[in-house]
Amino acid sequence: MSISKSEYARRRRNLMAMLEPDSIAIIPSARLQMRSRDTEYLFRQDSDFHYLTGFDEPEAVLVLTPGRRQGQFVLFCRERNPQQELWHGPRVGPEAACERFGADDAFPIGDIDEILPGLIEGRDRVYYSMGRRGDFDRQIMSWVNRIRAQEASGAVPPGEFTDLDHTLHELRLFKSAAELRLLRQAGEITARAHRRAMQFCQPGAFEYQLEAELLHEFAMSGARQPAYPCIVGGGDNGCVLHYIENQARLRSGDLVLVDAGCELQHYAADVTRTYPVNGEFTAEQAALYEVVLAAQEAAMNAIAPGRHWDEPHLESARVITEGLVELGLLKGRVSTLLRNEAYREFYMHRVGHWLGMDVHDVGDYRVGEQWRVLEPGMVMTVEPGLYVAPDNTRVPKRWRGIGIRIEDNVAVTETGCEVLTEGAPKAVDDIQNLMATSA
Ligand code: GLY
Ligand code: MN
Ligand code: MN
Repeated sequence: MSISKSEYARRRRNLMAMLEPDSIAIIPSARLQMRSRDTEYLFRQDSDFHYLTGFDEPEAVLVLTPGRRQGQFVLFCRERNPQQELWHGPRVGPEAACERFGADDAFPIGDIDEILPGLIEGRDRVYYSMGRRGDFDRQIMSWVNRIRAQEASGAVPPGEFTDLDHTLHELRLFKSAAELRLLRQAGEITARAHRRAMQFCQPGAFEYQLEAELLHEFAMSGARQPAYPCIVGGGDNGCVLHYIENQARLRSGDLVLVDAGCELQHYAADVTRTYPVNGEFTAEQAALYEVVLAAQEAAMNAIAPGRHWDEPHLESARVITEGLVELGLLKGRVSTLLRNEAYREFYMHRVGHWLGMDVHDVGDYRVGEQWRVLEPGMVMTVEPGLYVAPDNTRVPKRWRGIGIRIEDNVAVTETGCEVLTEGAPKAVDDIQNLMATSA
């Protein structure tokens, strides 16, 4: 385990310190999902559950009971079962859960309906993630109703229900030193994978073959899964923001947009590189590419403690607008175009998002009416793009069907930001050199 037992304990302590007095928090594990008939998807633990336990089995429920004398960390999990374990591998079991995961009490999941109402009873408030899973919402109510049914005998049901997400996700937004190490490692593996795909790329290759190169490098480095489906879009496909079909053949003269990141021990990378299939940018491709690259640099320069969440985006929009005016794709005064967000015809997403255990990670972007102020420990992507739709008749033909995104991952530091994904080349010369030496 790269996150220590004491760090998981610290996270639980921090969360409990943020809860109202006399409350209880209930967090379910992820469930196994069927892929087809009797074949399941590879299990991925729920990020909130993993964040607080490090426990990676399905059919488990974490209960935090601040102030409970017999222990505050209660875990319900599957019992040991030699027959099942012969087929599916070992289970921790309630007996070992205390020793291995630091639970104060652990019970078989099959006993939860009997035990949990007793833990809830007498607490004023129940925290859980509301509305995310209908079956779990109903289960919470069934436990509470068991207590209500006994009110005549003196049982006290909770009076308040509070969404846990806001509180827990505020903690997850700030990454610890150990989390930053994992994110850095995920970034390094991902950068290596992008280099590998660049070196493999040539006219006639299929998009899925570049995907295979990326996945190979991820898996060989211990990251068996990507953090999200790889996007490999050649030519016009680069203008489809979440293109994941990846079936087309790559053509000389086109760009290919590759958005792929690995997941390493539950931590994600999210990196995009765009490069010419034949290793040489055309004049139009290079012109637009330089605009996106400059926009990314301007955005990164606006990331530091005390700056607002919106500032990097506004910087990228400014540079992109100036660039589009210079190239003749937008006409008018830069200030007016910016006010009208004219760039959105070509740059229709924001410059980034939080990154962590989830690729679009948790955490508020606004506090009240204001954009959030950046603080050390926050991790985000910086990913401006330009996409000229193939059927955009408002621009000369030579620009159409060019889709470019450049995406890196950064951590806010005391003085600015640290780029976690630097190993993947992005300067025009660096890309052309790497591709020239590998053909
Ligand atoms: N890979 C999805 C995104 O860049 O947000
Ligand atoms: Mn991405
Ligand atoms: Mn992204």
